[in-house]
Amino acid sequence: MKKFLLMAALLSTNVLMLQAQQLTLRLDKAETEVSPMLYGLMTEEINYSYEGGLYTQLVPNPSFADMFNPRGGRRGRPNPDAPRFTVRPDRWQLTDTVQVRVRQNRRDGINDANPTSLVVNFDQAGLGIVSEGYWGFPIRKSTTFRGALYVRQPAARPNGDAASAPVRSLTLALKSADGRTPYAETHLSGFGSQWKHFDYQLTTSPTQADTKDARLFIIADEPGSIELTRVTLYAPSYKNRPNGLRVDLMEMMAEMHPKFLRFPGGNYLEGNNFANRFDWKRTIGHPDHRPGHQSPWGYRSTDGLGLLEFCQWAEDIGGEPVVGVFAGYVLGGDHLDGDYIQPFIQDALDEIEYIMGDATTKWGAQRARDGHPEPFPLHYVEVGNEDFFDRSGSYPNRFKMFYEAIKSRYPQLQIISTVGYDALKSSAIPNPVVDVIDEHYYRNAYDMYRNAFQYDRYDRNGPKIFCGEWATREGSPTTNMNAALGDAAWMTCMERNSDICIMSCYAPLFVNVEPGAMQWASDLIGYDVLNAYGSPSYWAQVMFSKYLGNRIVPIEATDIPKQTLDRNDQANAVFYTATTDAASHTTYLKLVNAVADAQKLNIKLDGVTKVKSKAKKIELKAARPDDTNSLSQPRNIVPQQSTQKVGKQFDITLAPYSVTVLVIE
Ligand code: AHR
Repeated sequence: MKKFLLMAALLSTNVLMLQAQQLTLRLDKAETEVSPMLYGLMTEEINYSYEGGLYTQLVPNPSFADMFNPRGGRRGRPNPDAPRFTVRPDRWQLTDTVQVRVRQNRRDGINDANPTSLVVNFDQAGLGIVSEGYWGFPIRKSTTFRGALYVRQPAARPNGDAASAPVRSLTLALKSADGRTPYAETHLSGFGSQWKHFDYQLTTSPTQADTKDARLFIIADEPGSIELTRVTLYAPSYKNRPNGLRVDLMEMMAEMHPKFLRFPGGNYLEGNNFANRFDWKRTIGHPDHRPGHQSPWGYRSTDGLGLLEFCQWAEDIGGEPVVGVFAGYVLGGDHLDGDYIQPFIQDALDEIEYIMGDATTKWGAQRARDGHPEPFPLHYVEVGNEDFFDRSGSYPNRFKMFYEAIKSRYPQLQIISTVGYDALKSSAIPNPVVDVIDEHYYRNAYDMYRNAFQYDRYDRNGPKIFCGEWATREGSPTTNMNAALGDAAWMTCMERNSDICIMSCYAPLFVNVEPGAMQWASDLIGYDVLNAYGSPSYWAQVMFSKYLGNRIVPIEATDIPKQTLDRNDQANAVFYTATTDAASHTTYLKLVNAVADAQKLNIKLDGVTKVKSKAKKIELKAARPDDTNSLSQPRNIVPQQSTQKVGKQFDITLAPYSVTVLVIE
């Protein structure tokens, strides 16, 4: 009977071995450097990451470039049941669909970049057009929003109709969606027959409660007509940068201690077609002079967050830019090669000069005029994105042309290929040269466990690896604890092997969690217009990047238990990595318990003479693998700090489903 009970107990868990498990940390052999660039961030316009996310400009469709026809639907699908034929600008409403009439004007706009505007006729005073914002506006107490718009009075029609006379004053207000609760208001007048630029401010009261139930109303103070374009409104930004970025999201990224920011994509670099690639020269200068473009993820970007803002963003969170340059291939499958690619190579050289050239260079001077005289540090440039999707086989030649052009001007730069070395070698290019290979891994938790020793087997003489997109895709819209465990197992692999895996960044970084905003499930940080939260994966990354030494500690592992995975194959149940900092005599041991049972480990430190008896212990854990964080429960799973008794040899019990960092001094 006893034997039967023991067997039953063993079968009730998917852990196959329960005997003593030991990790020996060979501090005496900690010679290999941890890559100083190991942990970074990756970003692109996806899931309303900038528009409706990080970028503080809050009014969508500010130049009325996109119109919404209820009979045609947003994407042109016929909708014969629409109640009446009222065309309106996308993401704008009319306070009255009979007494307010709008018309898009596509000629004679404020400039070539923003050629569109909206002509509005109001039958009465008090009617208006209403910006929906990106699912509302972030109303908080004592907040000043700064905005601007261009206004022009259309010539009055000689029919004596009040609605055709020019409107002489407008009220701009933030109010609740039903228009009944005002939050802030201002008035504009002094319009003429030519475009005139107006700045305005809206300030909430010191007693205002937080709400996203808000709209921007533009109300006519009398009947008549008016023409508007580039209606913008900015929330306060991180470090008070004009045209800046959202405070809470920047703080969350700074907490991750990123060493770099990979931008502008991802697919956002390539675009669906040549017209909608990331054409960096159209993303600089005053935002009123940026035309914007269609993101491949199904919506328009104003490019208000453009090349300079990407670089400034990297700088503000303590990292450096890693720029992907457009390499002549678009997602639609089209590519240009040979002589046709020369303009793109020139664009890439100019882009690099804009980022790192001093103010005496042509593009460095442009950056200085745009507001950043100091060059940004730049060490890595990536040529294209995921060019293994280019079935034409043109990448090796395109890569070679970019590589040679960039290296001859900037020999100090490291050039990253987006296809593996074997694929480059199998091309017609003899002996291709490449500094770094970008590898992307989107996996489930089991596949992360299966591959958690992948880099231990890589050729130490091959090119360095940049794991430029990776994620354990469990949970939606943001990932859950199961994903955090897969992520942590994968990070032990990258960290232990950071002599070859020199850089890494997770993707996607952001998701606006409002219905309809997400194009890619399983993201790191979720938000609406008002609040943000980190997924358990976010917190696992904070723990890994914050607690990091500068030397890799070799670990000898004995009797590490296994878990059975879905195809009945096995992987470790426990994953580990350690780094040490000789100057501060501090060792960072990271341990992941991926299974439902607590795991007892014996830890031995070889090569130390003295160890403080207590170590700081940071632990992320959950009762169930699908436990998660959300807007309503933002801190359900966050790291907890305590102490752990340690010595030259000690036992530690890892909680079920947990990630643990020990800071041993
Ligand atoms: O991260 C989402 C997408 O995944 C990226 O845009 C692309 O590079 C990859 O396929």
